[in-house]
Amino acid sequence: VDTVTDDMRVAVIGAGMMGADHVRRITERISGARVVAVVDADAQRAAAVADSTPGAVARPDATEVLADPNVDALLIATPGQFHESILAPALERGLPVFCEKPLTLDAASSLRIVELEQKRDRPVVQVGFMRRFDAGFRRLKDVADQGALGELLLLHCRHRNASSHLVNSEALLIQDSVVHEFDIIAWLTGSELATIEVRKPRSSRHAPDGLADPQLVLIETESGVIADVEIFINARYGYEVSTEAVFEEGVAAIGQPTELVTRTSYAQSMSIAPTFVERFRDAYDTQLQRWVNAARNGAIDGPSAWDGYRAAVACEAGILAQASGERVRVGAAPTPDFYRNQVI
Ligand SMILES: NC(=O)c1ccc[n+]([C@@H]2O[C@H](COP(=O)([O-])OP(=O)(O)OC[C@H]3O[C@@H](n4cnc5c(N)ncnc54)[C@H](O)[C@@H]3O)[C@@H](O)[C@H]2O)c1
Repeated sequence: VDTVTDDMRVAVIGAGMMGADHVRRITERISGARVVAVVDADAQRAAAVADSTPGAVARPDATEVLADPNVDALLIATPGQFHESILAPALERGLPVFCEKPLTLDAASSLRIVELEQKRDRPVVQVGFMRRFDAGFRRLKDVADQGALGELLLLHCRHRNASSHLVNSEALLIQDSVVHEFDIIAWLTGSELATIEVRKPRSSRHAPDGLADPQLVLIETESGVIADVEIFINARYGYEVSTEAVFEEGVAAIGQPTELVTRTSYAQSMSIAPTFVERFRDAYDTQLQRWVNAARNGAIDGPSAWDGYRAAVACEAGILAQASGERVRVGAAPTPDFYRNQVI
């Protein structure tokens, strides 16, 4: 940490929509850390973000930042295909890392990361599955864990973006968007995922070439819960992540846009978040504050690289299911003891 301010000094790699939002969060809303370096393949973007962040400088590449003794921790927010090449040297150095989801794009590279991490004495990589910090999802998990409504039977999940600039292929739809559902369903049910099937209705005219949008992903857990996930990333009207859980004695629903209801001109309307940045703002803040608090002690307090690996295995099955129309088995390796102490 900085000996004068006592702040953990964070280098942010990738200053796009998510990276820039995390920089603002560290600078303006959470405590115990500050951004000292911003790296982006687009030098102008790095400079723009660094210029608006007191104490931060734009740096040309991640390798040089990784070797800097004045950098205490890394936040990785590049697209998923670039995560491994930054994670690997960070793990060699033993730096605490917050890595945006997905950990990596495929199971083999995720496995390489968890194998490298297990050479250390404890997990140091936290993965950005922020839904686990969302108040609604946490309440739903409490209902499921405490059994207030009996056993959980079914989940109906909707994940809709107004539009998505990043996701433009069938595989990325799974790896970048549905990956959140893989993580949250395993977390909510406390169970490994067993099988995945993907069905495609007629596609929206707003879908980019080469991508059927929307799609319906059916996920069955080892515990026998079935989740149907509507993934629709060009839904136009706004951003929505909502889940209805069906229990033996009732249902519980989260994610309805209820913050502001307006009545005017003989009509009633409700505001809807334009993007994930607004919908999950509090979850992102909580997630990063908890990471900072833990990382200052060389630990993590949230989803681990193993959760990233499990999600990557599910993504591989999901991509196979998408291409074949078949129901595909998910075969993640058993969780090593090294990762068993994470309670989030
Ligand atoms: N948790 C969430 O809800 C959530 C939401 C959106 C995005 N994300 C994740 O955040 C990551 C970034 O997404 P985004 O929407 O900000 O994308 P983006 O395209 O807006 O930004 C990515 C940035 O990374 C830069 N970049 C690319 N390769 C690089 C490299 N090798 N080194 C340095 N910089 C590089 C690009 O120039 C760009 O500025 C992705 O992994 C994405 O899945 C997570």
